[in-house]
This record gives sequence, C-alpha cells and structure tokens, in this order.
Amino acid sequence: MDSKRLAGKVAVVTGASKGIGAGIAKQLAAEGAAVVVNYAASKEGADQVVNEIAGRGGKAIAVQGDVAKTEDIAHLFAEAGYNVDGLDYSEHLLKIARRRGTGSTLRYTRGDMRKLPGKWSSRFDAVLNLFTSFGFFADPSDDARVIAQFARVLKPGGVLIWHGGSRDGVMAKFLSRDWWQTSDKTMIAHERSFDPLSGVLTIDSSWTGTGRRSGKRTHRIRLYTATRLAEMCNDAGLIVEEAWDGFNDRALSRTSGEMLLKARKS
Ligand SMILES: C[S@@+](CC[C@H](N)C(=O)[O-])C[C@H]1O[C@@H](n2cnc3c(N)ncnc32)[C@H](O)[C@@H]1O
Repeated sequence: MDSKRLAGKVAVVTGASKGIGAGIAKQLAAEGAAVVVNYAASKEGADQVVNEIAGRGGKAIAVQGDVAKTEDIAHLFAEAGYNVDGLDYSEHLLKIARRRGTGSTLRYTRGDMRKLPGKWSSRFDAVLNLFTSFGFFADPSDDARVIAQFARVLKPGGVLIWHGGSRDGVMAKFLSRDWWQTSDKTMIAHERSFDPLSGVLTIDSSWTGTGRRSGKRTHRIRLYTATRLAEMCNDAGLIVEEAWDGFNDRALSRTSGEMLLKARKS
C-alpha cells in the first residue's frame, strides 16, 4: 500500500484530542492527509496531537468545536479549508450561529429546506443533515421533497450525510414516559405516543422549576426506518452506501436509536 495515499487530502477528525480520535488523526497524518484535530474542551490534548504530527513532518491544526452544535460543525469545516453554506429556517438560531464567526468560506442563509436556493444546483460535494433536522412536516411528501432538494444541490458523486432517529431502534426501546432533574433543579417530564400508520412520534414535555417558570410544549416528528429513507433517497437518485449506529464505528442495528446514513448521488 502507498504510505502517502492521502497526500493532498484534508481530514477532519472529531474528538481527536485523545483516545481513538487522536490515534486516527495521527494515522491519517502518517498517510499524508492534512488533519484538522477537533476538540470540544481539551485544548492541551489537541495541541499535543498537532505537535506530534508536526514533529513527524505532517500537517495539522487544532480547532475547537462541539460537534453537537451546527455552528461549530460549519466552523470546523470552514477552518479545514472547505467552502461552507449553512441553512436554517430560524432567524434566531442563525443569529447564534453567526456569533461564532462568518467569513468568505462560511456563509449562513435563511431558507426552507423544501426549497433550497435555485443557484445551489449541483454546487456541493456534501450535504449534512444532522441531529434530527428532518421529519417536521405534516405532509410526508414534503420530506421526500427535502431529499430531492438535497440531491439537486449535490454534484454528481457528492454525498448526503443524514443523521437522526431510527424508527426501528426508537420502537425497540420505546419509553412512554420519563422525567429527570436538571442542574438548576428544574423537573422535566416527557410523555410520548406513537402513531404507526403516519410514523409520527408526539412528545409532550412539561417542566417546573425554581429557576424557570413552569411550562408545557408538544413536539411532533415523523420517524423513518433506514429502509424507507433509503427508498426515498433512491427515488431522488441517491444511493445509500453505508448505515451506522450514529457518530461511532458500530453498524446500524435493530436497536440503534439513531442512525447515520451516507448516500451518494449517482
Ligand atoms: C433539532 S434542530 C437541529 C439543528 C442543528 N442541526 C443542530 O444540531 O443544532 C432542527 C433544526 O431544523 C430547523 N428547521 C426546521 N424546519 C426547517 C425548514 N423547513 N427549513 C430549514 N430548517 C428548518 C430548525 O430551525 C432547527 O434549527
């Protein structure tokens, strides 16, 4: 095998300041990739990994970011040298994302995922739809429309990374109610119900606390199996190539509560 087979490539390794992540970052650097060493809290650990890679003649930079936050993921990719567009419907959330910084390679757009900007056709190498940003619409054909939009904005050969709940796993471990206390002593309770025909999960949340006022809120989300999502992708010209248990190296299983799918535009 060519030991520098990744020369000229950039690798973004999340959670790379220690453990397996650090090991992967060093291995990718040894194979020639320029590595973005992402860390959530441990700057010291990340700096050490970067120094080790540089000491062996490799290229690496450390970038802070919590990968559970959209703005941090967008930022991470922009700092890695990618050209990033972030889109959301919520002006409020976009404002928070912009606070983390914008630039010539990082832009945010307010928009509806059912109708992405027309000028975005065939523009992207990758589309990331992460942390349950899908299944919000009353009409399921809108979810299919979203997938078709993702396909439209991808270049041929581009990939969609889809991450969210897996209906099989959520059903396998279904909890109709639970409650917990947060660090500020607020009690939060969830009651859940599921309609198997529409696939809609309804979550009634209520909270009472010393710090915050009491309140109630209802969320609804349509859950998909990997099978159905793969069919919807297929209808839009996207072929699912890989299915994972989430952000880890386990394959998707019957009991995976979340899933990460990688689909390629044919
Ligand atoms: C559960 S959040 C996940 C957000 C983000 N991926 C993260 O990890 O922080 C779902 C997001 O979808 C956005 N959203 C809801 N409906 C949308 C639509 N029609 N078009 C674009 N974004 C939408 C919401 O504003 C919210 O930011």
